[in-house]
Amino acid sequence: MVLPSMRLDGKVALVTGGGSGIGRAIALAVAEAGADVAVCEVPHKIGALDRVCEAIEHLGHRALPLALQLPNLADIDAAVSRVLDAYGRIDVLVNNAGVNIPKDALDVTEADWDGVLDVNLKGLFFMTQRVARSMIETGGGKIVNIASQNGVVGYYKRAAYCSSKAGVVNLTRVLAVEWAPHRIAVNAVGPTFILTPLTQSTFDNAQLREDMLSRIPLGRVGQPEDVVGAVVFLASPAADLITGHTLLVDGGWTAL
Ligand SMILES: NC(=O)c1ccc[n+]([C@@H]2O[C@H](COP(=O)([O-])OP(=O)(O)OC[C@H]3O[C@@H](n4cnc5c(N)ncnc54)[C@H](O)[C@@H]3O)[C@@H](O)[C@H]2O)c1
Repeated sequence: MVLPSMRLDGKVALVTGGGSGIGRAIALAVAEAGADVAVCEVPHKIGALDRVCEAIEHLGHRALPLALQLPNLADIDAAVSRVLDAYGRIDVLVNNAGVNIPKDALDVTEADWDGVLDVNLKGLFFMTQRVARSMIETGGGKIVNIASQNGVVGYYKRAAYCSSKAGVVNLTRVLAVEWAPHRIAVNAVGPTFILTPLTQSTFDNAQLREDMLSRIPLGRVGQPEDVVGAVVFLASPAADLITGHTLLVDGGWTAL
């Protein structure tokens, strides 16, 4: 046997923003790969969170629904503690929660800027720091940050968003280097435009839709399911020697 395992049997995963879109697909995919899953979601989407957890239990794995409003540090600490109390460890963290406030750069307010950076970068960092402390105690783990192709290329109306995702790409490298001695691998996935509630308004704009499609050599935008293979791979033993990398799932956008 030369093919390393891409399964997560017996692992405990924590997925943020797991009630909808890409996060929901990731939570289900890591369960399909064999993991028990703690799923975080903002308090007003608890109904969606419960449905994801029911679906995970139908797959034969344990699911723990957790309310989390990033970047609230008390929420982060409470969520991490609840997972550790329930399951004793966290082997895989997927930082998926994110927001965008699409606006021309000239119109971006301080509140817009902080609203995006606080969730996408500050919240991600402190969640990662707290989980890494427990991973160090239990002997290591895998962290997968959902960045974006917009972390490596620019796009219209995304000054704050692209800045936050570029921050995630380089933060991924920093944490990979610092935590390698603790056997914690830190990688990122950078999707192109994926059809989710976050991007519905962009897809509804015919001119933007045409512009996006003209930049994707594979000729289509993505579905949440297009992202999950990269996440499971980076979380699995098959990626044991990969750290600090951002794996683009972009249909060729950045190759053009
Ligand atoms: N959809 C795309 O085209 C696309 C492309 C590249 C990257 N991404 C990234 O993928 C991730 C998921 O996005 P999506 O498209 O599924 O969008 P989505 O809106 O469906 O999901 C985002 C999730 O994050 C949660 N969230 C938002 N603010 C939060 C907060 N303050 N605290 C905790 N959770 C919060 C939401 O409730 C939701 O569950 C994001 O990080 C996004 O930037 C999306």
